[in-house]
Amino acid sequence: MAIVNIDDLRVAAGRRLPKIFFDYIDGGSFAEETHSRNRTDFSALRLRQSVLGEHGEPDLSTSYLGRDYPLPFMFGPVGFLGLYARDGEQKAAKAAHAAGIPFALSTFSIASLADIRRATNGPLHFQLYVLEDRSLCDELIASAIEAGVDTLYVTVDTAITAIRERDVRNGFRSLTRVTPRMFLNLARKPGWLLDVAARGMPGVRAVEHRPEFGKGALEQAANLSRGIDKKLSWKDIAWLRERWMGKLVIKGVLSGEDAVKAREVGADGVVISNHGGRQLDGATSTIAALPGIRAAVGTDFTLMLDGGIRRGTDIIKAIGQGADGVMLGRAYTYGLAANGEQGAAEAISILAREMSISMSLMGVNSITELKERGAEFVFRE
Ligand SMILES: Cc1cc2nc3c(=O)[nH]c(=O)nc-3n(C[C@H](O)[C@H](O)[C@H](O)COP(=O)(O)O)c2cc1C
Repeated sequence: MAIVNIDDLRVAAGRRLPKIFFDYIDGGSFAEETHSRNRTDFSALRLRQSVLGEHGEPDLSTSYLGRDYPLPFMFGPVGFLGLYARDGEQKAAKAAHAAGIPFALSTFSIASLADIRRATNGPLHFQLYVLEDRSLCDELIASAIEAGVDTLYVTVDTAITAIRERDVRNGFRSLTRVTPRMFLNLARKPGWLLDVAARGMPGVRAVEHRPEFGKGALEQAANLSRGIDKKLSWKDIAWLRERWMGKLVIKGVLSGEDAVKAREVGADGVVISNHGGRQLDGATSTIAALPGIRAAVGTDFTLMLDGGIRRGTDIIKAIGQGADGVMLGRAYTYGLAANGEQGAAEAISILAREMSISMSLMGVNSITELKERGAEFVFRE
C-alpha cells in the first residue's frame, strides 16, 4: 500500500496492530466530540495564497524552550510505545533524533530513560505523571537528571482517567493479564505477535523493581493509573519547581487563566492540550483555545500545542495563530505501529514536506516570518 499521508499510516497501523491496541491509540473519551473537534477546528482556518513572489524553499527551522531545532514540531509523550513495536520508544526516539527534533518519553513507557540514552543521543524530554507515591517521582526525576533530560512536562489533565468507550468494549482497562480470549485476538495479527510478544508481554522498566505495581505492562499500567495523584494542585507544581532545575512545562492547559497561573508558579511554558480528546469530552479544541491563551500570556511565554495534528498545514495554522512549537501524538504513533522506526521517520518527512510545499504556495519564507506575521497568513473567514 502506498503511504502518501498520515491517514495512510493510520490505516497501515490498523492492519498490523491487534484491535485492542489500535483502538487504544485511535480513540477518544465518551462521544469523542472533542477528539473530532481537534481536527475540524483546523478546517475553520484559512491560509493566504500568494503568487509570483520569487520564493525559494522555506526555512522550517525555529527555536523553542531555549533551543534551536530544524523543524517546528517534536514527538510528544505517548504511553506504551513498546507495545506497538518492539523497542518502540527507542525506535521513535531514533527517528526523532535523526531529524534533529526532541523525543518526549512518557512516564508510562516500556523503556526507561537510560534505555533511550543507550540507543540514541539527541534531545530527550520527559513527561512526568505526579504519583501519590512521591518517592517514585523523586526516582523518576533523578533518572531524568542522569539521562541529561532538559525539559520536563508535568501532565495535569489526567487526575481522573475519562471513560474511553472503545477500551471498555475491548476490555482494555479491566485487563491485567493476557486471557485466552485476548490471546486469540492477538494471534490474529502474527506480524505484531512475532515482533512484540514472542518473548512474552513486555513490562514497564521504571517500576520493574517495585513488586507492588505487579508484573507485565497491562497490570503495571492499571496500577500506575490508579497511583496518579488525584488531588494535584498548583502547590505541587511549586514543589516540583524546587526539585527540577531544567525547563518545566505544564501539559494540559486550555485556558488563559491557567496559563497565567502556570507562569506565576515558575513554569517555563505550557502545552495547550486536551490529551488528544481522551479526557474531558466537550472541552474546546486546542487550536480554538490558542488565540485566547496567547492574548492572556503575551508574547514572551512558551506555548506548545498538540491535538489533531495530521497535516503540515495544521502545523502552519498553529504557529500562525501563536504557538511556538507543536507536538505530535497519534501522527508518529501510527507510523511507528505501521512500520517501526522507518514509519515514525515517514511521519516526520510527510509533515515536513507538506509544510514546505504549503508555505511556498503561501509565499512564506520561514517559520520566523510565520511567527512574526501570523495573522496575515492564517485567518478566519
Ligand atoms: C495512545 C496514547 C497514549 C498517550 N499517553 C500519554 C502519556 O502517557 N502522557 C501524556 O502526557 N500524554 C499522553 N497522551 C496524549 C499525547 O501526549 C497528546 O496530548 C495527544 O496525543 C495529542 O493529540 P493527537 O494524538 O491527536 O495529536 C497519549 C495519547 C495517545 C494517543
